[in-house]
Amino acid sequence: MRRAVVAANWKMHGSRTMVREYLSGLRGHALEHDRVQLVLCPPMVYLPALGGGLEPSLQAGLGAQDCSSESDDGAYTGEVSARMLADMGCKYVIVGHSERRERCYEDDARVAAKFLAAQSAGLTPILCVGETAEERDAGRAEQAVSRQFEAVIERAGAAGFHAALLAYEPVWAIGTGRSATPEIAQSMHALLRAALARRDAQTASKLRILYGGSVKTGNAASLFSQAEIDGALVGGASLVPEDLLAIAAAAAAGTD
Ligand code: PGA
Repeated sequence: MRRAVVAANWKMHGSRTMVREYLSGLRGHALEHDRVQLVLCPPMVYLPALGGGLEPSLQAGLGAQDCSSESDDGAYTGEVSARMLADMGCKYVIVGHSERRERCYEDDARVAAKFLAAQSAGLTPILCVGETAEERDAGRAEQAVSRQFEAVIERAGAAGFHAALLAYEPVWAIGTGRSATPEIAQSMHALLRAALARRDAQTASKLRILYGGSVKTGNAASLFSQAEIDGALVGGASLVPEDLLAIAAAAAAGTD
């Protein structure tokens, strides 16, 4: 059994009021910690407020949505290093989200550099890969995600995935309300695991592969019923703490 991970990606949503309300929405709730780990990734400026207000009993990990590819302090205006995130209590960081690949022109090499920077600061990277609608329509979905994954394996080695999470997020499913079917997600996750297993079977068998793209309370259980789906990276639905907790409970139930 692989312990599930449910990570909340708030994207660019939030305010101090929302953080307060969110914390009160989480208050008093417990999860089956041996079955599911909750990770919360608010915008960076809200990390201290959110992290500081979490009840220890929830055992939620704090994560950032991005980090610099530069490890050393320096003249990089606007950048935040993985070391700084760790210093602020972060344990996780999302790298290679499709919104950053597209909007910020992050290529495979940059994403790999961020993955390494995160690990050298002691953070667990959540590496996102996923094909666009055009790539899927052209029959190139598998090729696209394999390329994104291999680019990081080449730099980090298969062993780099001992302490990392992978998220399959088809771009056409993100924020569209059109989730991948459990079968599509299962087959893409199997493909990714097999790619790693060719180099390191043990690491591959332990790697948690999350699905992301319009995960909601209504479709979570069917996604988590798939053997290769070890949790979720949740955008829109994670803005409502009750929904996030329901998705995490579904993930815990699906780990059998
Ligand atoms: P969504 O976003 O759940 O709103 O589709 C997922 C993500 O981009 O991580």
